[in-house]
Amino acid sequence: TGVISYDPGYGSTGSCKSAITFINGEEGVLRYRGYAIEDLAENASFEEVMYLLVWGKLPNQEELDTFKGRLAEHATLPDGVVNVLESLPNTAHPMTVAQTLVACLGEYYDDDSDEETDIIRLLASMKALAAYGYRKTAGKDYVAPNTDASYAGDFANMMFGDADGDYNVSEVLETAIDKLLTLHADHEQNCSASTARMIGSAGSSLYASISGAIGALSGPLHGGANQKVIEMLEEIREADRSLEDHIDLVKDKSSDVRLMGFGHRVYKNFDPRAKILKKAADELLPELGVEDPALDLAKELEQVALEDEYFVKRRLYPNVDFYSGTIYRALGIPTNMFTVMFVLGRLPGWIAQWKEMRDDEEQRIHRPRQIYIGENKREVTPISER
Ligand code: CMC
Repeated sequence: TGVISYDPGYGSTGSCKSAITFINGEEGVLRYRGYAIEDLAENASFEEVMYLLVWGKLPNQEELDTFKGRLAEHATLPDGVVNVLESLPNTAHPMTVAQTLVACLGEYYDDDSDEETDIIRLLASMKALAAYGYRKTAGKDYVAPNTDASYAGDFANMMFGDADGDYNVSEVLETAIDKLLTLHADHEQNCSASTARMIGSAGSSLYASISGAIGALSGPLHGGANQKVIEMLEEIREADRSLEDHIDLVKDKSSDVRLMGFGHRVYKNFDPRAKILKKAADELLPELGVEDPALDLAKELEQVALEDEYFVKRRLYPNVDFYSGTIYRALGIPTNMFTVMFVLGRLPGWIAQWKEMRDDEEQRIHRPRQIYIGENKREVTPISER
C-alpha cells in the first residue's frame, strides 16, 4: 500500500546501500572500494582485485598468499561437473554451458561447506569451467590447473596449453588477460549484479544466484554486447557497407538495429573502461604481431558516430564492450566465448554484491511493485460462447 512510483528499468531507484563500487557517470569515474580503475589495472593483480572486492581491502602479502593457496586447493573441478559438461551438446552457447555448470557446481561437494568456502570454490572453479567448455568443443584434452600460476596465467594455460606439456604462457598474454579481468570485475547495480542480489535476497544459494547472473549477462544489451560488436564489425566488412550507411541504419528506429558497444545507462561522457581498452588494443595488437582490420574499423566507426547529431544528442559513447572483443580476438579467444570472459572478470563483483546483500541487516526480499494496467474484474464465459 502507499504510493507506488513508476520507474521502468529502475533508472532512478536506489535498490540498496553499497560500499563496493563508485561510478560518476558525468565524469567517467569508476572506483572499486575507493581505488580508481586505472590505478588497479596498472598496479594490482586480478587476485588482489578479487580479494579487494569480496573482502573489502587490498590484501597484504600473507593474506594474498593464503588466498592464492585456497584458490589452488579448489582449482580442480569435481568429476561430476566434468560429466555434466560432457553431456551438453557441442552446439550449446558457452554462456549456457557456464550457467549450467555453475548452477550444479555446489551439488558435487559432499561436505557442509561454509559461505567462504563456497566463494573460494566458485572463484577457483570458474577458470576451469570456462576453459574446459572450450577444450571440449575443440575436441582437445583438458589441461589440469597449475597451482603455481596466476589466475590469468592458469586460465590461459588451461585454454591454450598442451595437456601433456609444461605450463607455457607468455607474459604478454597473462598480463593482458589479467588486466581485462580487472576492468570487468564490478560495476555496481547493473542488470546481472541486481539479478544476483535479487535471487540471493530470497535466501537462495550462492550458486543459484550467480548462475542467474550469468543468464542476465548473456543478453545482447548487457555482456552479450561484446560478441555482438565483433559480429557487427564483420557484417559491415562482409557487406562492404559504408560506415555512414550503417549509422543510418542504426538511426532508423524502424530497423531495430543498435550500435553495439555504444551507450550506457550511467556513463554520459565516456566509459573509463573503454578508454583503457582502446589504448590497450593499440599497444597489444602490434606486440602480439596481430593485424586486425576490425580494430581500425571500430575506430573509424567510433569517429563517425561521435560526430553524428543522433549520438551527440543522446550522449552515447563507446562502452566497455566496444574494444574488448578486438583484444579477445587477438588473444585467440573464440568469438562465442567473449561473454564468458566477462563472466570470469565479473564473478568477484557479483560475489561481493551478493555477500554485501547477505550481510546487510536492512536487507529484505527484493519484491518490486507494479502499476496494474489490465482488465477490471470480469466473469469467465463458457468456452462455447467465446
Ligand atoms: N545505438 C543506437 N541508439 C541507442 C543506443 C545504441 N547503442 N543506445 C541507446 N540508444 C538510444 C535509444 O534508442 C534511445 O533513443 P530515443 O530516446 O530516441 O528513444 C536513447 O538512446 C536512450 O536509450 P535507452 O535504451 O533508453 O538507454 P538505456 O539506459 O535504457 O540503455 C544500453 C543502455 C546500454 C542498454 C543501450 O545504450 C544499448 O542498448 N546499447 C547497445 C548494447 C550495448 O552496447 N550494451 C553494453 C552495455 S555496457 C556493458 C554491459 O553492461 O555489458
